[in-house]
Amino acid sequence: MQVSAVQKGALLYSGKAKSVFETDQADYLILNFRNDTSAFDGKRIEQLENKGTTNNKFNAFMMEKLEQAGIKTHFVKMLDEQESLVKRLSMFPIECVVRNYTAGSICKRLGIEEGMHLSKPLFEFFLKNDALGDPMINDHHILSFGWASVSDIEEMKRLSFAVNGVLVDIFDQAGLLLVDFKLEFGLFKGEIHLGDEFTPDGCRLWDKETRKKLDKDRFRQSLGNVVEAYQEAGKRLGMNF
Ligand code: TMP
Ligand code: ASP
Repeated sequence: MQVSAVQKGALLYSGKAKSVFETDQADYLILNFRNDTSAFDGKRIEQLENKGTTNNKFNAFMMEKLEQAGIKTHFVKMLDEQESLVKRLSMFPIECVVRNYTAGSICKRLGIEEGMHLSKPLFEFFLKNDALGDPMINDHHILSFGWASVSDIEEMKRLSFAVNGVLVDIFDQAGLLLVDFKLEFGLFKGEIHLGDEFTPDGCRLWDKETRKKLDKDRFRQSLGNVVEAYQEAGKRLGMNF
C-alpha cells in the first residue's frame, strides 16, 4: 500500500479535540489535532494555543514507542504539524482505563484520597457516551449489548496492561509517574489495534518527586500553563519542543 501520496478528503467526524478526515484511500484517515480542550464530557471547551501541534507530536512519539514494543496501533505517520495519517479502524464504543495511582473519578466514586499507589494496576471499562457522562460498565454490559465479543474483551484488557507495562517504565525513566490513562481500540482487517490518541489530554502524569501535574487536570482544575506542562512532559520523554 502506497500511503505517501494520500490525498485529504471530506470531514468524516469532528470530535471534542480532533477532526477526522477521509482520504482517497479507503483504509486510511487523517487526524487533525485541534486546539480545542474539553473537560467534563464537553461541558467546558476552550482554545489553548499550540495544543493541537503539541498533541500531534506527543501522540506520534508515544504510538511509535508502542509499535516498537510490538503493540499494533492505527498510527502511520505525521503528515504535518497538526495532522497524522492513521489506519481506518472500526471502533468499539468503549473506553479502557488503566490506573496505577488513585485520581479523578475513582476517588469520587469510592471516597478515596488522590495519590494512593494501587498494589496492582486497575482496569475499568467506560461506555463512550458524553451525553451520559461516559458511565462505567463491565464485561457483562459489553456482551449483553453486543459491543464486543469475549475474545475482543480479553484482547483489549491484555493490550491495555501491555501498554501500561511499556509506558510505566518509559515515564519512570523521565522522572514521571503514569497515574492513569484511557485507551480506545478498534478493528483493522479483523485485528485489534490501538486507536484514538495517547496524549496528556487522556492520561494523568505527575512529576515523580513533587507530584506536579503535567496533564489535562491542569485545565480541569484551572491550574494554568496547560500546554507548557504537556511540552515539559514531552521534553523529559525526549520529544523536541
Ligand atoms: P477518570 O478519572 O475521569 O475516570 O479518567 C481516568 C483517566 O482516563 C484520566 O487520565 C482521563 C482519561 N479519560 C479520558 O481521557 N476520557 C474519558 O472519557 C474518560 C472516562 C477518561
Ligand atoms: N471526560 C474527559 C474529561 O473530563 C473528556 C472530556 O470531557 O472532554 O476531560
